[in-house]
Amino acid sequence: MVRVAIIGAGLMGHGLALVFAQGGHEVWVTDPQADALDSLHVRVKATLASLGKTDDCVSRIHAASSLEDAVSRAELVVEAAPEKLELKQALFERIEAAASMSCILASNTSVIPITQVMAKVKYKARALGTHWWNPPYLVPLVEVIQTAETEPSIVTRMMKLLADLGKVPVHVKKDVPGFVGNRLQHALWREAISLIEHGVCDAETVDLVVKNSFGRRLAVLGPIENADLVGTDLTLDIHNQVLASLEDAHQPSPYLQKLVADGQLGFKTDRGFKIWDTSKKDKLRKKVTEHLKAISALLEEQNAI
Ligand SMILES: NC(=O)c1ccc[n+]([C@@H]2O[C@H](COP(=O)([O-])OP(=O)(O)OC[C@H]3O[C@@H](n4cnc5c(N)ncnc54)[C@H](O)[C@@H]3O)[C@@H](O)[C@H]2O)c1
Repeated sequence: MVRVAIIGAGLMGHGLALVFAQGGHEVWVTDPQADALDSLHVRVKATLASLGKTDDCVSRIHAASSLEDAVSRAELVVEAAPEKLELKQALFERIEAAASMSCILASNTSVIPITQVMAKVKYKARALGTHWWNPPYLVPLVEVIQTAETEPSIVTRMMKLLADLGKVPVHVKKDVPGFVGNRLQHALWREAISLIEHGVCDAETVDLVVKNSFGRRLAVLGPIENADLVGTDLTLDIHNQVLASLEDAHQPSPYLQKLVADGQLGFKTDRGFKIWDTSKKDKLRKKVTEHLKAISALLEEQNAI
């Protein structure tokens, strides 16, 4: 059993608390928003119910009265506060002041290099990234990001802890922005937005293409396996033809910037690349959850054979 402190009781924080508690660990959660903390148990129970699981593990999740209260007893701290560098740096300064010297410090930042997040930490050997994916109780991957200062044994311990939780931990050996998963994902999103921006197809078509073609295979056939499957010679021929015309902008697309400037923020405002309403949003959220549950069951079944 490991004593875990989770910093931030939002979307990711509540899911992380659930996963650690399900794994038999004691979890203390802190959040400056009283409603986020007050609703924590209710949200965890609702998530467990949606997964068809009992809520026995909820008794291992505690609302801490302060960050210091959560951290002082922890052997592992996982920060899941908003994606703002200065906030995360200030939080880790406070966390280190309150935590024991042996406590492992982990950030769940989506894309910010861990070296920057941990800039104000004095003892950096025990600091690393653990990038979970949403929802953390249904998506297996956790990227474990090692900085130039992270002690290798800390990476090994974290990988083991995550594997024991039933996750699929991967070792990211260089602390690059976006790590591995979000670099791959946003290379695709950059091209997707560019195709729409340049009138090659509309937003609906981009999603139809992905969902009805390589998206179908991705859960069992990674891009590198696929390159080998079709042949590295064919991959080279294709790259010789197409790479020069792919989007390679180093700034966000003007099309995306205009959407944001016009307040077209997607689900938040019911208008983004596409038009949304409550029914469409609920339907899509439900579809994603049901798909993730079904694909987990299917892959477990396949792996058992
Ligand atoms: N949402 C995702 O899909 C996803 C996936 C992977 C990683 N992440 C990363 O995880 C982190 C959290 O994301 P989220 O989606 O859970 O955000 P969220 O907005 O749902 O939750 C953030 C929580 O942090 C709390 N908070 C604000 N200031 C704080 C402070 N000073 N101390 C402690 N808590 C504080 C907020 O009250 C909120 O409850 C971000 O770094 C994000 O990039 C998000």
